[in-house]
Amino acid sequence: MEKPVKKGQDIFVEIEDLAFGSAGISHIKDFIIFVKNGLPGQKVNARITKVKSSFAEARILKVLKKSPIQHDAHCPYFEYCGGCTFQNLPYDKQLESLHAQVIQLYRHLGGFGPVEVQTPIRSQDIFRYRNKMEFAFSNKRWLTGDFESHKPEDFALGLRAPGNFWKAIDLNDCLIAPEETAIVLEAVRNFAQKYHLIPYNQKKHTGFLRHLVLRKARNTNQLMINIVTSDDQHTIFQPLVDELSANLDNLTSVVNNISRTWSGTTVGEKQHLLFGKDHILEKLGRLTFKISPASFFQTNTVMAEALYDIVVKYAALKTTDVVWDLYCGAGSIALYLAEQAKEVIGFEIVKEAIKDARENATLNQIENVRFIEGDLNKLFQKKPELLDNLPKPDVMIIDPPRGGMHPKLIPVVAQLNPKRIVYVSCNPSTQVRDIKMLIKESNYTIDKIQPIDPFPHTPHIEVVTSLIRTD
Ligand SMILES: C[S@@+](CC[C@H](N)C(=O)[O-])C[C@H]1O[C@@H](n2cnc3c(N)ncnc32)[C@H](O)[C@@H]1O
Repeated sequence: MEKPVKKGQDIFVEIEDLAFGSAGISHIKDFIIFVKNGLPGQKVNARITKVKSSFAEARILKVLKKSPIQHDAHCPYFEYCGGCTFQNLPYDKQLESLHAQVIQLYRHLGGFGPVEVQTPIRSQDIFRYRNKMEFAFSNKRWLTGDFESHKPEDFALGLRAPGNFWKAIDLNDCLIAPEETAIVLEAVRNFAQKYHLIPYNQKKHTGFLRHLVLRKARNTNQLMINIVTSDDQHTIFQPLVDELSANLDNLTSVVNNISRTWSGTTVGEKQHLLFGKDHILEKLGRLTFKISPASFFQTNTVMAEALYDIVVKYAALKTTDVVWDLYCGAGSIALYLAEQAKEVIGFEIVKEAIKDARENATLNQIENVRFIEGDLNKLFQKKPELLDNLPKPDVMIIDPPRGGMHPKLIPVVAQLNPKRIVYVSCNPSTQVRDIKMLIKESNYTIDKIQPIDPFPHTPHIEVVTSLIRTD
């Protein structure tokens, strides 16, 4: 096909529809142009950023005509911050579009024919829904125009600018973050400036203040603050801790993690407890979970409960069933299912998550679970005895990271041949790819597909798909 555009060329197009991810689709003749953040009905002036054999990508230079379905975003940083791509699209339209995209993926990429994809379950809250936010300090503020021109350019505490990892947008608040965010950001920023604490320089690996992490347990109201620094000077934070604890009744934990590595992880080599406990407690259904700075926990608590309820329904357990929970994290699904099963075995690569899972089992007095630490990309190849010695799964839960399952794990699952598989995914493209491979290797058919939205205003959606063995 002749390509009608070149990289760097500026074009005028009308956006026709939304594609998976955060792109609008338009065409020049039959050639597809994916326009980043484009909304249906918008007329835009855009610049071509990439050209492939059958499509090109472009970024908007100027919106010439607004989309008839768009509204004004609530967030003053919307234009600069990449976090909530679709905040200017009404929530019903966001869900409609995500639904259409999941159908498209299953029917076309998967080639599964006219499978039914249930209507997505809406998020109960579309603002303040995240229970964890990682803010970054930077010595380079991303300039957001006139409305913040009074701020210094060499200090920022906020979110990374899209496509610019060393700069940060200095935020007063974030509308999807916990309610206490504005108070904490202001106190920490004022403290840092008063004491001349140097924000991190991402390019040179210099500076002291690296990250500020907020975690809030929605159902218990407990709040955790983790200040991540590149050096150990934890005693200097006492005045800040005194101020925060005086102003926030629900402050339960303040810690300082020291992270000297380039990678910038928010869980450092060393941790100091500055206030309260080193963890917070959260409740999901009847269960209590201990959340430490290193723990993985679903980011939208209300929707995590809704998600796990679907998993319970699709797993349709009998009390004689053995369940394997692959990629179990801190064991929340395993613990959620344990009451209805004979035994649940969780597998997970992160050592701390396995530790949390075991502690959470003890905390909830659940005895019919065990957790195995290992890399599922090679665990059963390195330790084939596990396949002989562990009780075989009747039901398998698979909840991998965005990249999906390792191809070597597919034949292992097929060989184990559970009667039911519940595949939970935050990336339906890799989910469809893996299910296609599983169906090719073994006798499974798709039973139900339920999208659920824990991430309003973003191009992401969670999809729970159940597969049943046909023989
Ligand atoms: C989407 S999370 C699922 C967490 C858990 N099911 C929950 O609901 O809280 C994916 C998990 O897979 C783990 N993981 C990633 N790669 C892995 C691998 N190769 N082997 C085992 N676990 C892995 C991650 O550490 C993470 O905890």
